[in-house]
Amino acid sequence: MIVKDTFSKFTNISKLYGCIAFFTNEKSEIAHLKKYLSSSDYKNLNVLLKNKNTKKGLLSFDLNPNQKIILISSKKNQKTNETEKSGAKLTDFLSGEGAKLIHIVSDTISVNLKSDAIYEFLHGMRLKSYSFDRYKSKKESNILKVNIASSKKLNKKIYDKYKAIELGVNYTKDLVSEPGNILHPDEYAKRLIQLKKIGLRVSVYNEKQLKKMGCNALVGVGQGSIRGSYLVTLEWRGNKSNSKTLAFVGKGVCFDTGGISLKPARFMEDMTYDMAGSAVVVGLMKNLALRKSKVNAVGVVGLVENMPGGNAQRPGDIVKSYSGKTIEVLNTDAEGRLVLADAITFTEKKFKPNLIVDLATLTGAIVVALGSEYAGLFSNNDNLSKQIHEAGEKVEEKAWRLPLHSNYDKLMNSKNADMQNINYVGGAGSTTAAQFLQRFILNKTPWAHLDIAGMAFSKYAGALNSSGATGYGVRLLNKFVEDNYE
Ligand code: BES
Ligand code: MN
Ligand code: ZN
Repeated sequence: MIVKDTFSKFTNISKLYGCIAFFTNEKSEIAHLKKYLSSSDYKNLNVLLKNKNTKKGLLSFDLNPNQKIILISSKKNQKTNETEKSGAKLTDFLSGEGAKLIHIVSDTISVNLKSDAIYEFLHGMRLKSYSFDRYKSKKESNILKVNIASSKKLNKKIYDKYKAIELGVNYTKDLVSEPGNILHPDEYAKRLIQLKKIGLRVSVYNEKQLKKMGCNALVGVGQGSIRGSYLVTLEWRGNKSNSKTLAFVGKGVCFDTGGISLKPARFMEDMTYDMAGSAVVVGLMKNLALRKSKVNAVGVVGLVENMPGGNAQRPGDIVKSYSGKTIEVLNTDAEGRLVLADAITFTEKKFKPNLIVDLATLTGAIVVALGSEYAGLFSNNDNLSKQIHEAGEKVEEKAWRLPLHSNYDKLMNSKNADMQNINYVGGAGSTTAAQFLQRFILNKTPWAHLDIAGMAFSKYAGALNSSGATGYGVRLLNKFVEDNYE
């Protein structure tokens, strides 16, 4: 469903047709609606309400053939997230009804919430309405007009902020939803150059340049592919008087076959979302630029395709990373960490950021441990870890911290090189992957790693998402930036 919102001055409901929504308290009481309804409509609504046994969430009544009343209940001062979810519920309901038009009498939200909560409600409505139909011959044609009927003027600042977040989230979802034959590294790099238009400074390092720079860990992953490999940086300077820089690094494996350590056929098609970490970084940067965030941030993504072939990397190959450290590639399917290794060292060296957060669909083990409830969070810094955890709780994109320890680190030592890319003993696959990444933080920069393998994509719809790409991480990191650095 496509949501199109308009704002209008509320006058009288007798002039409104279609669905008309009011907010109520938790008990769905309607005394405060008396002034909006004719006395006969008010009486009718009371009768209809008495005959309903459930009084939770969302109630709908056909008042007459032309007007359907929807009552949306809210708890006193409920959290932002609850209001967003309630908006999402309305989207679901209206899409089930095939509704084309809804008027929301937004003044009534103040029965239990501050009046700006209407923007949170709308945000939830719009997030939930996302769908990806680029490759369907029959396009999504169900347009829902949402008319916010209010006595107040539109608060453009808040409205625009939420719009920026939605555009960021939806861009992430679009990228994640694209199949591997379309969004290969060459195409991905081209699309990122387009982001110059919104004020981001974009630099693309191609394969030749990366080889010259010594990013052999990253380049090695892509060498079996007919596509190029890239490192792309996206810079946003929203606070020129401040030297602080926040860095976000993402794994962009456009398709992960496993390489010569080939994956089994079953579910290999899922590996089209193995670039989700990078897509979150891109969506976040887009959001920061669109809402002119007052921070300096840089996004760095490593774009490769992991393919088998005559020129592909072999198990046992040894590569020298950008850091100078050598890696024995025992399993070509543990490729994300190779891409991130060079991207992380490059980011630390080039931008000298105050912190680095990386995101990656890095291990199947994190899905075993945490399923699709929490991302795995690993960090060398308690404060950074706490900030991410708390932002995640607020927007319900949750992250759970798991341990790092030198004893896990040891498991990555190699006989033949400085380290190997998998551990054969000791289990803890997600932690050992994180330990591997930590070896590429050379200057003790506060760093956090989010393993989002279980979060990036869902076969089922969530409270604020339709099924498919979730955009997990964009709202989390936006909150993280907003609460701690703006
Ligand atoms: N992209 C995968 C991880 C993954 C698995 C993402 C499931 C999303 C869903 C990653 O590159 C990978 O293949 N990891 C291996 C590592 C192993 C070889 C040490 C894994 O988890 O099996
Ligand atoms: Mn892999
Ligand atoms: Zn992968």
